[in-house]
Formats: sequence, structure tokens, C-alpha cells
Amino acid sequence: MKNAEKLLCRILLLFLWFQSGVGRSGPAFASPGFIESTCSSSMFWVKLEKSFLQDKFFTVEIIDPSGVSVLLDEELEARCGYVLSNDVWGNTIFRASFLGCHVINEMDEKFSLTLNIRVSLFQDLRAATTYQHPMRCSYPTWAPREILCEENYMEVSVKTDVPVISDYETAEWMSALPEARKVLYQIWQLIFYSPSGRKKTLVSDADKLGYSFNNTLSRVFLRSPYSTNETEHSVANGVTMSTISSTSMYRQRWLLLLIDTTVSCPVDGTSFTDVAIVWTVPSMVPRLVLQEPTFTSHNISMAVNGQRIENPEHFGYTLDRNNTHIVTTIPIGASGGRLKSTVSNGVYGAVYSIDLLLEHTWTDTDWHLTKYTVIKQITTPFMPRIPRVVNNTVPETRLFDVTLGVFLHDVILVALKIGEEQLSRKEAQQRGYKISDIHFPNGTIGFQLVVPFDDPNILREYVNKNETKYHLHVNYTLNVGPQLKLYHHPADIECIIADVELPEGIGFCDKENMYLAVPIAGLYKYWSLYVGSKPLSQATALADGYFVTTNDTHLILQVPLFAVGAIYEEVSFERIRARFDLLLKKTSTMETLDIFSVRCNFHSSQFIVCYPNGTVTVSALMKTVPSIDMGKTRLKDSTCRPKEFTKEQVFFQFHVSTCGTSLRFEGDHLIYENELLFEKETLPAQGPPTITRDPAYRLTILCYYPIKETLMQSAVIYGSSSSSRTLPTGYGTMMTRTNVAGPRRARQVLHITSSIFKDESFTETYGQHSEALKYSREPVYLEVELKDEAPGVELLLDNCWVAGSEEFGAIPQWSIIEDGCESKDSGSVSFSPVTKSDRVKYPNHFKRLRIQMQTLPLRKVYFHCTVKVSTCLHLPGNGLPEGQCLQGRKLGTIDYTCHTSDQRSEIHGYAVAGPVLVIHS
Ligand SMILES: *[C@@H]1O[C@H](CO)[C@@H](O)[C@H](O)[C@H]1NC(C)=O
Ligand SMILES: *[C@@H]1O[C@H](CO)[C@@H](O)[C@H](O)[C@H]1NC(C)=O
Ligand SMILES: *[C@@H]1O[C@H](CO)[C@@H](O)[C@H](O)[C@H]1NC(C)=O
Ligand SMILES: *[C@@H]1O[C@H](CO)[C@@H](O)[C@H](O)[C@H]1NC(C)=O
Ligand SMILES: *[C@@H]1O[C@H](CO)[C@@H](O)[C@H](O)[C@H]1NC(C)=O
Ligand SMILES: *[C@@H]1O[C@H](CO)[C@@H](O)[C@H](O)[C@H]1NC(C)=O
Ligand SMILES: *[C@@H]1O[C@H](CO)[C@@H](O)[C@H](O)[C@H]1NC(C)=O
Repeated sequence: MKNAEKLLCRILLLFLWFQSGVGRSGPAFASPGFIESTCSSSMFWVKLEKSFLQDKFFTVEIIDPSGVSVLLDEELEARCGYVLSNDVWGNTIFRASFLGCHVINEMDEKFSLTLNIRVSLFQDLRAATTYQHPMRCSYPTWAPREILCEENYMEVSVKTDVPVISDYETAEWMSALPEARKVLYQIWQLIFYSPSGRKKTLVSDADKLGYSFNNTLSRVFLRSPYSTNETEHSVANGVTMSTISSTSMYRQRWLLLLIDTTVSCPVDGTSFTDVAIVWTVPSMVPRLVLQEPTFTSHNISMAVNGQRIENPEHFGYTLDRNNTHIVTTIPIGASGGRLKSTVSNGVYGAVYSIDLLLEHTWTDTDWHLTKYTVIKQITTPFMPRIPRVVNNTVPETRLFDVTLGVFLHDVILVALKIGEEQLSRKEAQQRGYKISDIHFPNGTIGFQLVVPFDDPNILREYVNKNETKYHLHVNYTLNVGPQLKLYHHPADIECIIADVELPEGIGFCDKENMYLAVPIAGLYKYWSLYVGSKPLSQATALADGYFVTTNDTHLILQVPLFAVGAIYEEVSFERIRARFDLLLKKTSTMETLDIFSVRCNFHSSQFIVCYPNGTVTVSALMKTVPSIDMGKTRLKDSTCRPKEFTKEQVFFQFHVSTCGTSLRFEGDHLIYENELLFEKETLPAQGPPTITRDPAYRLTILCYYPIKETLMQSAVIYGSSSSSRTLPTGYGTMMTRTNVAGPRRARQVLHITSSIFKDESFTETYGQHSEALKYSREPVYLEVELKDEAPGVELLLDNCWVAGSEEFGAIPQWSIIEDGCESKDSGSVSFSPVTKSDRVKYPNHFKRLRIQMQTLPLRKVYFHCTVKVSTCLHLPGNGLPEGQCLQGRKLGTIDYTCHTSDQRSEIHGYAVAGPVLVIHS
């Protein structure tokens, strides 16, 4: 019912406007629905809908009473009592005072004004459509004084129908006010009072000062912009007021009228808290109330968007007053105002603005009733509202689910950069990303994005053992607020899930080989296979005697029993229990994730195992005709006898430093060599050899140890070495020689011995069965001897070191000779001269060292030396071989020349002496 009534009213109104419009200005169109106007107290209040004028060009013109249209401009607006601006919603607002320049005033009761609104799609308005909008308002209830504080002007109007004053009284006034006497008949004059003094002007001249002054049937009014030369700024109850103090004078023959036309309006008074706008207006403006005790405040009311608000509390507003202040509080976000999004310095935030009107009526004896109206649009400062990225990902779904929010509803998601790909929202949706707007109950919004883990724009990283880290990087692009400002917001979401299946190695065995089968999925991409510290590849496999095959699903590694890297866990007479370890390492970090081991038992009667610690086990099958007594087999050192034997098989176990084992270097390997011998039984035992019953038997045993990691890094300082250092893994071979005619031993083996002597005369050793005992500060005398070589060659020490055990790779080690020279950190080491004696046939075949030991944290020490042979000849006139230390030779008396082409300069050897028991005193 109500709505229907309203509609009917509006139609009637439109009809009326249409009628009057046609009547007046011919071609103009009648006002359409986008124009809305009301009569508000003493103002015309017009609203032009934003939705209609958007993207159009328009002007607002006033039709003056003679029918001429007048274009509005700022100066005219302030002077004529008009305001053309926008409300907080973006609608165009036009307000005109009833006392405005072009308003037709009928007896100060009826007021009419006609607007022409010209609208065009183009900037050139010649082809614009003109909408004529006539308005007519009635306002019979003028207060004796009305003050309007508009956005761009101040206006005071007062009634002039004062009671008639007698001539007698006039005379008295005139004598009291000398200025008044000079007032011309029928001419109003204005007197301004400002800090710079008093200024009197004719009404016609007031115009030039920026004022507008006129009278109507029963009123006079003064309108002023906010800053004129006569404006005075003063503070009333904490609020700055802009004041024009003036008196208007009018004289008729029998009457002198003096009217106070002072106007005073607040220019500030707004403050902001986090949650509210606070607007303060003084209750009593002292300049407007001359007799304060008579001041009585009456009604205070407010309007928002030009609408009167009867119960401010219904909207959450509060309107408080006391004797000094009227305080309006508007919670930020309250309805009536507008909260809109914006971007400031790249930060998302909001501003809230509201169009307010405050009307205060009061009485005092001078004016009886004053109506005081203030119109103000208030906008908060920028309030940052940093949006948050909310991660709603449920790992099991394998979908990133991310929400960005919260935003005000005036924000639009327009584009996204996912990973490295920039996509518009539409493109992103076409790509299959789920993008949706989420509307929260409180009116805010968020944007949800769903991206599968397996999308190409998701970064993935293999982490830990069996997990993948998925990383979604998004850069959102949003259009913010009415101005569609660009705003970017990045989001980085990670999710780690255990979705990687580590490969499982499967081991199996056959008679001679160990096998490991490893699934190839993910191999090389995430993982690498290693044998010890060497990556497994076709090349390394081939070099170490493995065989690698790959089928669709698995890599199969075949490792022969005696291949490099096999670990012999248990070796007995008849059985070898071997193990082979394959390491699964993470390619990115080289971290060992798993060790695949295969363990096999082999029944073998013929094998040699060289253990990393230097122990050698040999099982040999000796089928000879006639058969020999296996109990009589031995190694080079005749005291080394088999540990076990049968009729056809022997089993030896010895250490490379014993049993006459010799050593040589070949390429990257250290080769220990021994021989399994069968001593021919000679009959008779005494006398010249005659017939042998047993066949000659010789089996060469070779153990190869890689030297790269050991010898080359021999100078390890105690305490600094890492205990995880791997010892060389040995491997061995056997060469059977059934004939005595074979070479007595491999050509390139040096026979080296070394011993500890009791004193510097180097005559007496400690013997085989007594250990040397030394105080730690006593020097040790070490001699290294080359045996079985030609007189012309010279023994040279390569590297010598002290260690706590006789194992070649024993650590820690303390270097004493490095590359043939006395080591710098060895304490005190020096070469001692060697002279010919009974024992010393060729001094060139000896090297002697006097070693003043440092305080070593050991009780028992061994002296290790690697050596080589120099075939340099003693020839006068030549210098030393380059890079060589003297090694005890006398410079100046002996000179050398070298047969560089002689292969024998490459021959190496090794010997260990000790132990020496150190007594720490
Ligand atoms: C205001 O005062 C200044 C300086 O006294 C003067 O130049 C200017 O013309 C005055 N303005 C008006 C509108 O009278
Ligand atoms: C004063 O008002 C009259 C009547 O409305 C008008 O004709 C006149 O131009 C106005 N004077 C000024 C200075 O505005
Ligand atoms: C009136 O209210 C204002 C603001 O709340 C306050 O600052 C002022 O002190 C009050 N005045 C009196 C007289 O209570
Ligand atoms: C609106 O709702 C969202 C979601 O519930 C919340 O995060 C946000 O803080 C709320 N905003 C306001 C102003 O209440
Ligand atoms: C997001 O995109 C904008 C515009 O391309 C760029 O200026 C900004 O640096 C980007 N932010 C991030 C975190 O990548
Ligand atoms: C996102 O949520 C998932 C699932 O709760 C969680 O595993 C992941 O760590 C989170 N990521 C971030 C960056 O917060
Ligand atoms: C991943 O590894 C952890 C421990 O390292 C284990 O508890 C978990 O079951 C594994 N998950 C999968 C899927 O393999």
C-alpha cells in the first residue's frame, strides 16, 4: 500500500514537472527518473543518479527568472548560494539556498528554481540531451535568524520586520552612532569588524569584496565565502570558527535599521578514532550570542545524505550535547556512510565517508530564535586493512586451497600469476584452476583459489627421505574501489607430504655372484646409487668388474665374489660369507638414505681376500701329481705356515706387514705380494741337492689396495682427522706358477727393510723379539735399507710417518718425511750420514734418520716409510735432481746425473719398523 502511494505521488510530481517544463522552455525534455529533488528547510536539494551519469558528460545550468540559462562555476556557486558536488556514493548533488541569486521568491514563502541538465555521451555538449528540472518549495517558517554553514559558503539571513521605532528614538540612536547618520536614503550599508579594523562599504561594493548581500520582502541576508579579507578565525570551545562580523544599516526617512549580520561557521572539529568519526560543533558560538545568560539551546537534529534522522541511535550514531559541545559520533562502517576500498603506497585499505547535516535551534533575547545549520562531508584518513592469505589445504586431497581476504565488496580479482604464468581470471579458470568469490556474512569478500599439486606451475622439491615439498606461488592482481586502483598481493604456500616411495633393493645370489635389483623409477632424478664413495655407472661398474643390466623396472647389479667392494664377513677354510653394500643417496644432498645389502655364502676352495686392515686370507687348492704334503707349504717367510690344510687345500692368514710380504706401487694401487711356496724336500737333507720327490710349487699372492685416499693424505694431524675416514679396501689375485723357471718375483718390487737402532752408530738393533723402549725426549734412530739391488742405484725416502699401529693406513699419522724432505711439523728429524762398513756395502742403499719425537699421545709407535729408487749416477758437475732434498748426501762432493728414461726411477717400496714403546716422563 505504502509503496503504491509513493509511486503514485512520484508520478503526479513528474507530471507536474512535465507540465511546467513544457510551459517554460519549449524544447527541453521533462525530468527523467535520474533526478531527484527535495525541499530541505531553506534549500533545494537535488540528486543526480550516478548510475545514469556514469561514463557520460554533463553540465548543470540554472535558468534565471528571465529564462536565460547560467552555467555554474565555483565563484558563482559560492556567491549565489549553490553547491555542486558529489555525495559519498558518487551521485552528483546540487543544493541551492532559497535566497540564491536565481531563485524566484514569492512573498518569502514560495520559492522556485529551474535547472537544465545537459547530458551527452561525448565531451562536446552541443548534441547533448537537455533535461529541464523545475523545482518549487514552500517555506513559511523562517526563523528570525537563520545561519547556513554550507561546504563552500556561509549565509546569514535575518528578518527585517522589526517593530516600528519612533522618530524620537531614532534621533537617540543616531547621536549614539555617528556612522549611521551618514547612511544614505534607501541604501544599505555594511560595516565589517575585523582584527585589522572597521570597514564600511556600500552594498554595491560588498559585491567586490566577495560578499553577497540583498534584501527580500522581510529579510536581509549576507553570504560569504570561507575566506575573505574580513574573515576572522577564532577558537570556540576547541573548534576553529570562521567568522565575519558585520552590521547592516538601512535608513528610511523615519527609520534607521541596524542589523547584526554576523555569521560564524566551524571549519574543523572532526577527529577520528580507530572505530569512529567524532564531529564536534560548539553548542554556543559566542560571536552569535551577545547575551550569553539568555542563551537556551532547543532542538538539535541531524541528517545523513540529506535525510533527517529522527533516532540516530537506530543507525548506531550518537548525538550528545552539553553546555559547550554538540558531539556527533559515527561508527566507521555505519550505514548511511560509505566504506570504500583504496590503495595507498601499495597497501590495501579503506576510507569511510559520510554526508552529515546538523541543525541546532536556540533562543536568546536578541534574536528570539536562531536556526543554525552545518553541512559537512567527513572522510576518514586511509585505514590500512592488510589482507591475509588463509591456507585451507588438506594435504590428502593433493589440492592447494588458498583464500585471500578479507576485502570490501568493491574489490575485484582480475588476474593471477601462478608460478611464472600470468593469467587473467578467465584464462586461469579455463586452465582449470578453481577461482571463486567468497561472500562473508558481514559483507566482506575473499577469493578462493584451488590448484592441484601436480599442476605444472607448482614447484616441487624432493625433501627429507620420502617427502615432496609442493610450493604454490601466486601474485594476485585486484582492482580496488571505485577508482579500480591496482593492488597486488603475493601468496606463498607450501605443503610437504610423504608421497615418495623409496626404492627397495632386493638381493640374491648365485654360485659366484651377488646380485642387487633396484627399481629404477625415480633413480637418477632423486637418487643415485653409490658403491662406497664411487657413483655407480656403467663405466665405474665395468672398471670394478661389476655388470649392470636394466630392464623396464629394475636395475640389476651383478657383483662377482672377488670384485672390488665386496666385504668378506667371515672367511674360513671352506666358506666365504660375503656382503655387498649399495648406497642409495639423495642426488641433491648426497645424504645416504638407505643401504641395500646382499649377503651370500660361497663355497670356494680357491680364494684370496685382502682386508682393509691389511689381513690377507688365502685358500688355495693344489692338485699336484704326485700330491704334496700341504702341511709343508709356507709363505716367503718360512715361519708362516698354513692355518689349516687338507690333502689338497691350504688356508693361510697373515698380515701384509709380515711373512716377508713385499710392496710396490702401480698406478693408483699399492700392491702387496707374497708367495705360497712348497719347499722341495731334498733327499738327503745334507749334501748336494739331487733328486726331488715333490714338484716345485709357487703361487704368487697379490693384494691391491687403492692408495688415493691414504698415502696422498698421509700427513694427518692428530685430533683433526675425521674418524669416519674409510680405510682402503683391498682386493687380491693369485697367480699360479708351477715352474721354478718362472721369475723369482715380480720385477718391480723393491725389497726394503727398516729397523730401529739403539744409538747413532747404527750398529745394534733391538733384535726381533725385544721391543725398543724410549723416553719420549730420547731420539729414535731409524734405518731403511734397500736389498738386492745394483750398486749404482740410490734409495730415496718418499714419505715417512709415525703411527700407532703397523697398518699402512693407520690413523692418526704424524708425518716426518714429506716428498723426500724433513717434514715441517715433525719436531726435529734429520738425516744421518751413512758410511761404508761390514754391514753397509753400498751406502747408497741406506737412509738413516735421527728422529727427535714430539710428545705424541701414543705409548707405542711404528715408523712407516714409502721409498723409491733413484738410478741417478754419481757424476761430477751436475746439480741435484730437481725438487729433491739432500737426504743426507753431501752437496759439493757428490753430483748426479739421471737416466730419466730408466723406468726404475718409478719403482717404489714400503717398510715399517717398530714398535717403539714410548715412556712419557
Ligand atoms: C584583500 O586584501 C589584499 C591585501 O590587503 C588586497 O590586495 C586584496 O585586493 C583584498 N581582496 C579583496 C577581495 O578585497
Ligand atoms: C537583490 O535582489 C533583487 C531582487 O531579487 C535583484 O534584482 C538584485 O539584483 C539583487 N541585488 C544583488 C546585488 O544581488
Ligand atoms: C562537553 O562535552 C565535551 C566533549 O565530550 C567535553 O570535552 C566537555 O568538557 C563537556 N563540557 C561540559 C561542560 O561538560
Ligand atoms: C568479516 O568476516 C570475515 C570472515 O568471517 C572476518 O575475517 C572479518 O574480520 C570480518 N570483518 C569485520 C569488519 O567484521
Ligand atoms: C606481483 O606483481 C606485481 C606486478 O607485476 C609486481 O610489481 C610485484 O613485485 C609482484 N610481487 C611479487 C611478490 O612477486
Ligand atoms: C598449508 O596447510 C597444509 C595443511 O594443513 C600444511 O601442511 C602446510 O604446512 C601449510 N602451508 C603453509 C605455508 O602454511
Ligand atoms: C616416510 O618415511 C617415514 C619415516 O622416515 C615413515 O614413517 C613413513 O611411513 C614414510 N611414508 C611413506 C609414504 O613411505
